[in-house]
Amino acid sequence: MASLTIRKLDEHVKTYLRLRSATNGRSVEEEVRVILGELIQGRPELPGASISSAEAPAQAPRPVSTSSARNVTLIIGGGIAAFKSLELIRRLKERHIDVRCVLTKAAQQFVTPLSASALSHERVYTDLFDPGSEFDAGHIRLARECDLIIVAPATADLMAKMAQGHADDLASAILLAADRPILLAPAMNPLMWNNAATRRNVLQLRRDGVQMIGPNAGEMAESNEAGVGRMSEAVEIAAAAVDILRPPQPRPLAGKRVLITAGPTHEPIDPVRYIANRSSGKQGFAIAVAAQAAGADVTLVSGPVDLHDPAGVTVIRVESARDMLHRVQAALPADIAIFAAAVADWRVANEGEQKLKKTSAGMPPLQLVENPDILATISKLTDKRPPLVIGFAAETEHLIDNAKAKIARKGCDWIVANDVSPATGVMGGDRNTVHLLTRDGDDIGVESWPVMTKEQVATELVAKIAKSVEKNS
Ligand code: CTP
Repeated sequence: MASLTIRKLDEHVKTYLRLRSATNGRSVEEEVRVILGELIQGRPELPGASISSAEAPAQAPRPVSTSSARNVTLIIGGGIAAFKSLELIRRLKERHIDVRCVLTKAAQQFVTPLSASALSHERVYTDLFDPGSEFDAGHIRLARECDLIIVAPATADLMAKMAQGHADDLASAILLAADRPILLAPAMNPLMWNNAATRRNVLQLRRDGVQMIGPNAGEMAESNEAGVGRMSEAVEIAAAAVDILRPPQPRPLAGKRVLITAGPTHEPIDPVRYIANRSSGKQGFAIAVAAQAAGADVTLVSGPVDLHDPAGVTVIRVESARDMLHRVQAALPADIAIFAAAVADWRVANEGEQKLKKTSAGMPPLQLVENPDILATISKLTDKRPPLVIGFAAETEHLIDNAKAKIARKGCDWIVANDVSPATGVMGGDRNTVHLLTRDGDDIGVESWPVMTKEQVATELVAKIAKSVEKNS
């Protein structure tokens, strides 16, 4: 069968084809195939079909394709962090994501198209006016024939161009033509990141629906400089990309406010010492992640822990039990409250204003007073009591009996009871073996779950909550 050389077509036909394919987000060759198919079926689209006009409404991002093949267009901007983008290509490919790279002119000062091509196993794009790709509106295809566009590093200049809608090079033209989700990984000097112009651009881009990861705090390439401006690590960007590319999940807790406590509390003895416990906060954070994924509006009040803020969750960091109570009270009302924190039962009554010194008088007398019980306080509210209040029971003996007594004493609706004896490794570990106690009037039901990761416990608990919310609505 004869092949068709588009280059040899009349100029007006080429212009028509180029505009029509751009409007439909197809390559010129695909557009020709569509037109031929329509002709055969006897229903050609009318020539002159409208081409986007200045008045045309902005397109909402199209949903990510549901096919299992996932494609990313990775725009590498010109910054020292560009070398990390080469690692990002690998991390994305490890996650079975195909990557097509675009390098800005400045990016080529830091990494070469050859390295990007070798790692992505794809042609790399650099020029807006490349006759090889731009004849069939290559920037439109790069913007649309993918499920996500990542810009890493997103330099101050590239972000400024995006915020203003410039399209004077391939990267900015792709970003302007995009109808796919966009993820930026900003990287720049802290002074540039904090500059009022960059702050304005960041705000504008967020309003435009652009997603961002980072920048992180740390040392800069410039000697003796540190601050916020380092590009997120390749694994963090790849994880964020996977999240965006995941097909939409059911959101049974959409419209619900969930309040969660997590972690230990620190009760000061003097300005440098405190009483604490071994809680890592992992279980509470995992519940926050699961509730957020189920569509809830989540507020997480956490004691001091070494965990990152989960994306999309409002995190309030506190130190002591009293701080935690105040922040919990301020976060009400909520539809569901989950108290996973290992709150210190006591604090020091006579907290030293200065560091306690060793003296010949012997050990300092530490007087303890009881802390407020946050779970009991919220469970017994008459006004603003969340309809579902869930506590945890950390026990080392008589697990179920103690947990049943705790439900009654504290007045909550459910209790997640777990054995925290040192041999179980629960405190600080990644796994948990829990029993769910649910109160129905005077009856208390007990469900024992097998050993699971803390993430699985969180997912199961959120699924139970979703069922109960559905039943009671
Ligand atoms: N809790 C709380 N405020 C406190 C103490 C506990 O909100 N001051 C909450 C915990 O977050 C958990 C539940 O109460 O949801 C049970 O905590 P746990 O440490 O198991 O029990 P305690 O109340 O401290 O009782 P005990 O130490 O006697 O087991």
